[in-house]
Amino acid sequence: MKWSLAVGLVATASLGADPEVFTVDRSQAEVRFVLDAPLDSIVGLSPALSGSIRYDPQGGSGNGKINADLSTFRTGISLRDEDLRNEFFQTVKFPSATLNLQRIERKKPAPSPGEWETSEAIGTLALHGMERVVRIPVKIRYIELVDHAVIQAVGTFSVKLAEYQIQRPTALFLKLGDTAKVEVKVTLDGPTHPPAAKATETATTPAVLPPLFVRTGFLPVAKAATHKPPKPKARFAAGSAEGRGEKLFTDASVGGTANALTCASCHGVNDERAGLSPEPNGPIHPSHSLYDAARRPAFWQGFEPTPGRAASLCTRLFLLSPTGLSEKQQSDVEAYVKALSPDEAVGALDYRELALTRRSDLANPTGGDPKLGAKLEKRYCEGCHNKGSVRPPLTQGLYEPDYLVHRVRWLPGNDARQMPPIYAERLTDTDLRHIVTYLAGKQAKKIFDRKQHAPPPPPAETKEASQ
Ligand code: HEC
Ligand code: HEC
Repeated sequence: MKWSLAVGLVATASLGADPEVFTVDRSQAEVRFVLDAPLDSIVGLSPALSGSIRYDPQGGSGNGKINADLSTFRTGISLRDEDLRNEFFQTVKFPSATLNLQRIERKKPAPSPGEWETSEAIGTLALHGMERVVRIPVKIRYIELVDHAVIQAVGTFSVKLAEYQIQRPTALFLKLGDTAKVEVKVTLDGPTHPPAAKATETATTPAVLPPLFVRTGFLPVAKAATHKPPKPKARFAAGSAEGRGEKLFTDASVGGTANALTCASCHGVNDERAGLSPEPNGPIHPSHSLYDAARRPAFWQGFEPTPGRAASLCTRLFLLSPTGLSEKQQSDVEAYVKALSPDEAVGALDYRELALTRRSDLANPTGGDPKLGAKLEKRYCEGCHNKGSVRPPLTQGLYEPDYLVHRVRWLPGNDARQMPPIYAERLTDTDLRHIVTYLAGKQAKKIFDRKQHAPPPPPAETKEASQ
């Protein structure tokens, strides 16, 4: 069906002078979608585009076909990627999405050669077994290189999931928007001409192709920090070094793009010898308090000599900042940590706990008490997983028990980018079991039946060995 349609298009193509076929350069192509919902904003990225376009640079007309491999989208959370493939796109049945562009029409010519012209592409999008008409505003740039011409195109359009019969489970309405905003960026190569034939043009030919975009491999996972958390009461004077350090402690902007975490998401500032939370049944931070931290002889297992340097390492590891904290910020943090350290000398943190946590799986993860789990989830997870926080509330019934254990304990294969490990010393196996039991939910409450897509079980011997 689709094939004959494409053939038909090619047959009716040649409107302009001399259209040539331009083929997608896979190293210079990217499709991105954004699904915005009240509680989450999901960005999916894929480089796997293919196809070709017939394009007439004189008239700006053309047609063609662009394909996206739907199994290659990444959103930054592995379980979500799996759901995207299996539950939403259903890639086994519908492996790709195809833009059949019947007509490309020039709306506004490029101000001068090699610059962007404004056009519209009219055609259909085939997705999830449905085909719908689309009109896509596109920017096109035609560039002559030494031995061939190249076109670059950027198009944006909206896809209403319901129009393609992609269903959203009711439990996910607040986390999953109903419309995907899609952006396609492609570079397409024209046929190679013998350089001699174009010799006269080489004088004006650019030596290198202007880049269409920079592939960052960056996958934002946290909803952009639009909310302002309630301002904590400042204990130190605003202009002092302690005051600046205190402010930095709750400031997400010290991190990189899309970071929503602050020091205070992970570290408390209370004396934990009296208990992990300042209030009975209150929230518990995943990492150690910085109370008395300035008195410790070494930091980060001896890798860092000062609290400021240790904080800078945290900024690189968890706050998506490749450069860490500046010298000034480090000394402000240090002044703040000193002010939080009233005691004489204390010992260094024991990092063996952390190493151990990352090696121990949890036996019988759903053998806990879901009621206790609900309470513990509030204390340990809702500091970050809550309305208006770093991540939306965790949805009961959405996650596999093993996935939860791997994430919280940072077991090998976890895909945590910003979420820290929570040590067995701070969250015991028994308590984690309660949380997992609560979050995994009863079989009947499960949002997806992931077993139907489960990979085949490993061969008998390896299975035994791993138990
Ligand atoms: C995503 C969680 C996370 C964030 C955000 C974070 N840290 Fe850390 N930090 C850790 C972990 C995990 C360790 C290892 C020891 C522990 O558990 O406290 C650590 C260690 C440290 C240490 C060294 C402790 C020691 O004695 O070895 C200091 C000091 C520190 N962080 C300060 C900061 C400051 C200041 C910020 C904000 C700029 C910050 N951290 C942001 C998770 C985080
Ligand atoms: C310090 C903040 C923080 C705490 C505390 C925290 N998480 Fe997370 N969590 C994150 C961030 C940030 C992500 C997004 C992915 C990433 O960066 O690792 C995430 C992602 C997840 C995901 C993947 C799905 C999603 O919606 O993002 C699960 C499941 C999860 N966390 C479970 C838990 C559980 C269970 C707890 C409590 C035991 C917990 N988290 C505590 C910050 C946190």
